[in-house]
Amino acid sequence: MALIRFVLQSVVEILVLPVTILSYIGIWDPLYKRFFPYLMVKITSAINDKLGKIKKELFDKLPDFASSSGLSILEVGCGSGANFQYYPWGCKVICTDPNPNFERFLKKSIAQNEHVKIARFIVASGEDLSQVASGSVDAVVCTLVLCTVQDIDMVVKEALRVLRPGGAFFFIEHVVADKTTWLHFFQHVIQPAWRYFGDGCCVTRDTWKNLEKANFSELNLKHIIAPFKWSLISCHIIGYGIK
Ligand SMILES: C[S@@+](CC[C@H](N)C(=O)[O-])C[C@H]1O[C@@H](n2cnc3c(N)ncnc32)[C@H](O)[C@@H]1O
Repeated sequence: MALIRFVLQSVVEILVLPVTILSYIGIWDPLYKRFFPYLMVKITSAINDKLGKIKKELFDKLPDFASSSGLSILEVGCGSGANFQYYPWGCKVICTDPNPNFERFLKKSIAQNEHVKIARFIVASGEDLSQVASGSVDAVVCTLVLCTVQDIDMVVKEALRVLRPGGAFFFIEHVVADKTTWLHFFQHVIQPAWRYFGDGCCVTRDTWKNLEKANFSELNLKHIIAPFKWSLISCHIIGYGIK
């Protein structure tokens, strides 16, 4: 099976060779980063259709972490603002994303979600949130982002830094499937192409291990199968970790 996987993976790598070359010479990534927000807006509405109930249940816990002055949230890799509709009334949100091309889509979401107060949009990667003071937010939200970041441990470390003691890191992330499944096989076969068309997304990460070894005082983490048909990203982890 390992040999078949290697052969199929090599076929995929050959098929995407033109894209690999474009990426290597620095053309693919900047172009794709302009296009990706358009794609994400479409995908987001499909994801919210399927995961809406799960997101609502998770984000209904956000008010538990409000401090006396209200609830402040920092969202890492906010994209087009897919989560705003699930946030509680009156919360203050700092949005961050390294791709500035999301800003116009974000503005649309902000206009549609008047119950949320957007404090600012910072163009920054989750690995470097130095523009945000330590211990300054009640909750950090991160959905479908740890699959793409360069360094998961650094993102979680930064989230823990900006959280106040007792604050929480909320996550919904797709992860690698169980080794014994066909899904695991195809995730590895398709990955060489997927990363280019998913803006660096990796479907083979066991992200729960990073969260389990992070310095949370308490971690509530569940593995779920999202109701996406024929999808490479149906295995998810969902939950929150408390600082
Ligand atoms: C699949 S989209 C998810 C967007 C949004 N969180 C959602 O749930 O719809 C992945 C997002 O992660 C962002 N991203 C990529 N690399 C990142 C990094 N190193 N740190 C933070 N965000 C990153 C992308 O720009 C994009 O907005």
